[in-house]
Amino acid sequence: MATPPGQAAVTRLHRGRLLSPTAPDRLSHVADGCLAVDASGRIAAVGDFPTLAGQFPDLPITDWRPAAILPGLIDLHAHIPQYAAMALDGYDLLPWLQRFIYPTEAAFADPDHALAVSRRFFSAALARGTTTALLYATVHAEGTRMAFRAAEEAGVRAAIGKVMMDRNSPPELCEDTRESLRASEALCAQWHGAAEGRLRYAFTPRFAITCSPELMGETAKLAEEHGALIQTHLAENPDELAAVGRMFPSAPHYTGVYAEAGLLGPRTVMAHCLYLAPAEWDLLAETTTRIAHCASSNFFLRSGVFDLAQARTRGITVGLGTDVGAGPSLSMFDEMQSACFASRARHATERAAGDRLAAFRSEFAALPEGEALFGRVAARLGLQDAVTLVSPLHAFYMATVGSAQALGLEREIGKLEAGTWADFVVVQPPPPEARELTPAELLSQIVYRTDPSAILATYVAGAPRGPRAGGVPPLP
Ligand code: GUN
Ligand code: FE
Repeated sequence: MATPPGQAAVTRLHRGRLLSPTAPDRLSHVADGCLAVDASGRIAAVGDFPTLAGQFPDLPITDWRPAAILPGLIDLHAHIPQYAAMALDGYDLLPWLQRFIYPTEAAFADPDHALAVSRRFFSAALARGTTTALLYATVHAEGTRMAFRAAEEAGVRAAIGKVMMDRNSPPELCEDTRESLRASEALCAQWHGAAEGRLRYAFTPRFAITCSPELMGETAKLAEEHGALIQTHLAENPDELAAVGRMFPSAPHYTGVYAEAGLLGPRTVMAHCLYLAPAEWDLLAETTTRIAHCASSNFFLRSGVFDLAQARTRGITVGLGTDVGAGPSLSMFDEMQSACFASRARHATERAAGDRLAAFRSEFAALPEGEALFGRVAARLGLQDAVTLVSPLHAFYMATVGSAQALGLEREIGKLEAGTWADFVVVQPPPPEARELTPAELLSQIVYRTDPSAILATYVAGAPRGPRAGGVPPLP
C-alpha cells in the first residue's frame, strides 16, 4: 500500500493475539491480530493478520503466535534508588524511611553507584513489560542525571525528577531551598523532552513533611513555566497525616497544603491518597489532579486500603504505581494483582463492618428517630458508599490507559491503536485450556500470572528493549 505523504513507511508486522483495553470493563481482542509498525516507531495500523498482510505485502513479519501482544505497562509511581532496598518489611512509613530509605538514597551521592542502580532498575522494569514510568531519583543532581542517562540508554519512556527536601530530613539529604530549585530547574532544562520526547521532567517535592512552603510554592511556579510534571505523596499514613496537621496548623487539611502552594492540577500526580475527607476528594476532582494507586505498597507499609470508589464517582484519573521500594515488586503484573486484591479487602471489611452495625439495628429502631439515626451513623462510617471491585480488566485499564491519562499521554501510549507509539509487551499465555476462554478470561490468566519469565519481549517506539531485546521464542 502506498504511504501517504508525511507519514513514515511501514517497516514491520507483528503477528499475535492482540489484547487492548478500551474501557474499565471493555477489551478489544483480535485472535489472529497484527500490528503494522512504521519507521518512526508508531503503530500505522492494527487489525487482523490476513487483512494487514494483504495491505502490506513483502514486509518482515515477527510471528509471536500463540503469544499475546498487550500495550506496554505504565508504572505511575516508583523510586529508582529504592530498587536497592526493596522488600524490607517490619515498619510503617515514617520509621521505614529513617531505617532503610534515607540511608539508601544517601548512597546516590556517588554517581557511579547511581548509574549502576538506575541501569539495573530499567533493565528489570523492561523485562517485566513496563515501557513507561514516572519516577523519583534522589536529592542529588548528578545522581538524577545518571538516572536520566540510564533511561536514555535503555530506550524506555520516563518522567523523572530530582527529589526536593529542605527540612525535617537527615543532614546528608537536606537541601538549601534555593539550591534545590536551581538544580531542579537545570535538570528540567536539560532533560524535559530529551531522547526524541521519550524523557520528561517531573518536579518532585518529596512530601509536605520534608518541604517548606516556599520550596513547594516556587516549585509549582517552575513546573508551570516549563510545562513539566509534578509528583509527590499525599495522605499515605496516619502518622504522616498527624505530622502535617502539626506543621501546617492553618491548612484546612493535607490536600489544602498542596493547594495553597499551587501544586494541584492536571500535570500533577499524587501517590496514595488513602486518608482524604470528602472536601479533599472534591478538591482533587476540581483541579483535575491525578492519582497513582499503589496497592502493593499500601499493604507492605501497612498504610491502608485505597478507596477507589471515591475517585471513580468524581471522575478522577487513576493509574497504578509499584512504588518500589515500598512496593516489593517492580512488576506491574504484580501491581495489577494487588489492585484487584485491595478492592476485595475493602469490600470484605466494609461488608463485615456493615454486618456488625446491622446487629444494632433493632436497638436503634427502639429509639425515637432511631431509623434516621441509624442511617446517619452508617453514612458517617462510609458504609453506604459503593465499593469498586476491581476486575483484572479494570486493573489492566488503570495500568495502561489510566496511567497514560495521568501523564497526559493518552493519545500517545496505553492502547494498541493506529497513531500511537508502538510500545507493547509480548506475553506467553498460560497453557491452552480445554475450554474456549473469553478474551476477559484469558486476560485474567495473564494478569494473575506474574512470573516475569512469561514476558517474551518489550518494545518501545517499535524497538525491542531490555534484557530480552533479542526476543525469546514463544512456547508452542
Ligand atoms: N513518602 C515520602 N517519601 C516516601 C517514599 O520514599 N516512599 C513512600 N512510600 N512514601 C513516601
Ligand atoms: Fe512513593
